[in-house]
Amino acid sequence: MNYPVWDVPIIGSGWVIGGIAIFHILVSHFAIGGGFYLPMAEAKALREGRDDWMEVIRGHAKFFLVLTLVFGAVTGVAIWFSIGLASPEGTSTLIHNFVFAWAIEWIFFTVEITASIVYYYTWGKIDDKLHIRIGWIYAVSAWLSLVVINGILTFMLTPGGAWLSVAGTGMEADKFWQAWLNPTYFPSAALRTLICIALAGVWALVTASRIDGFKHPELKKGVIRWSALWLLPAFVALPFCFGWYLYMVPESRLALLQLGISNIGAGTFTQVTRTGLVTVITSATIAAVVYFIAWRNPRDFGFGHACAVLFLALAATASTEYGRELLRKPYVIANHMYSNGVRKSQVEGFNQDGYLTNTIWLRAEERARLKQARGSGDESLVVGELMFRGQCMACHTRDGYRPMRQFLAGRDHESIGNILKMLHDHSEDSPYYKFMPPLVGTADEIKGLNDFLYELVKPAPEVVAAAQ
Ligand code: HEC
Repeated sequence: MNYPVWDVPIIGSGWVIGGIAIFHILVSHFAIGGGFYLPMAEAKALREGRDDWMEVIRGHAKFFLVLTLVFGAVTGVAIWFSIGLASPEGTSTLIHNFVFAWAIEWIFFTVEITASIVYYYTWGKIDDKLHIRIGWIYAVSAWLSLVVINGILTFMLTPGGAWLSVAGTGMEADKFWQAWLNPTYFPSAALRTLICIALAGVWALVTASRIDGFKHPELKKGVIRWSALWLLPAFVALPFCFGWYLYMVPESRLALLQLGISNIGAGTFTQVTRTGLVTVITSATIAAVVYFIAWRNPRDFGFGHACAVLFLALAATASTEYGRELLRKPYVIANHMYSNGVRKSQVEGFNQDGYLTNTIWLRAEERARLKQARGSGDESLVVGELMFRGQCMACHTRDGYRPMRQFLAGRDHESIGNILKMLHDHSEDSPYYKFMPPLVGTADEIKGLNDFLYELVKPAPEVVAAAQ
């Protein structure tokens, strides 16, 4: 462990968060949608006197409880650990701004967990109406926890002018409501609610696919068709909500998406556009499988089909969330803090007074190492390595994800220096402006980074000798 810079080989620290978050999002959104599905299905079964439905719903409730409570809660805590390690400065800013929002969210979460346990264990033991009411308490508290978290997630992409105008002054808490109810708050809440409802249907199809269609054809048909209907609101309304969301995202953040779309003919996709395409393709495939197999031939809809739909839903969730993260690049909090923890307002200061001497994200051992190297032949390489860890490793690794060695392969010292100059100047027409933060530091520090990066890629002496 090498906190405060978390050096994760090959995948980089960002993908540790990503890998956990994708599963957490799939399960937590299902926890909300499923919360609505269960009492509604139960009420329907009671109304129609369908005891066979009750059995299925009860089985689903058990699966639901285990998946959402165990997996949902564990991955949720894991996100906390990983964001704190990968992005301490960003996490700290979020906590300072939203500590009460989080406290409230945890209360909803506690109510949600308690209600779900009570709901499951009182099955058939208490009055039906009361039981359904407990189901509703679960659903509403789960949804309210999303309502709270949504404000914090959207804040990172669109913190809004009011908050930005006081950022760094210590008066940020005064703008809590503006920051929380920021420009993308409502479209994102609508999008996520629709996704919750659709995921309730997707997971219910998994349970329903296991009903024996030959022994219980009517039961299977009924449950599958009713569950498939849960996907309908999303397919009708998602495109509109998505348009609404993009409409609220500032022009500057959409630059990467537009660049990719306008160059689709030429085959130049940006990553944001690629994730958008994956979302569209996987969603269309889900619609086709659910309509042609689940709806038209419910008896043939097997566990394999259900898993395929689930896998596609996972891919759609992953690509959509990844696209959202990419839209925010190079910031962790748009227009305020870059992904490597450098605040926009600190850039001038770091350039003048030095990054390594002034950043708080250098451990005592690293400072000692730096001091020791002073004046020795290694000084510049040590400076460079620490610059790389502090400023580049939030998004790059040496050899794995966005690998420096590969990106810089074949370049000489001077051409690496040219790239670093562009990163440092950070002018709006630089090709890197849209996705990389400015490289900050004094001329000596940047030279150190230059030496360090060249050391990574320079040809071995025997290769040089062979070429001569
Ligand atoms: C906010 C995240 C982020 C940070 C921080 C960041 N980069 Fe990048 N960098 C990117 C992205 C995204 C790409 C494009 C990757 C791709 O094309 O797959 C990239 C590409 C590059 C490339 C390849 C450019 C090319 O023309 O092919 C180099 C070199 C590079 N980065 C160097 C650096 C250095 C040096 C630092 C630290 C001073 C740094 N980056 C910090 C996100 C970042």
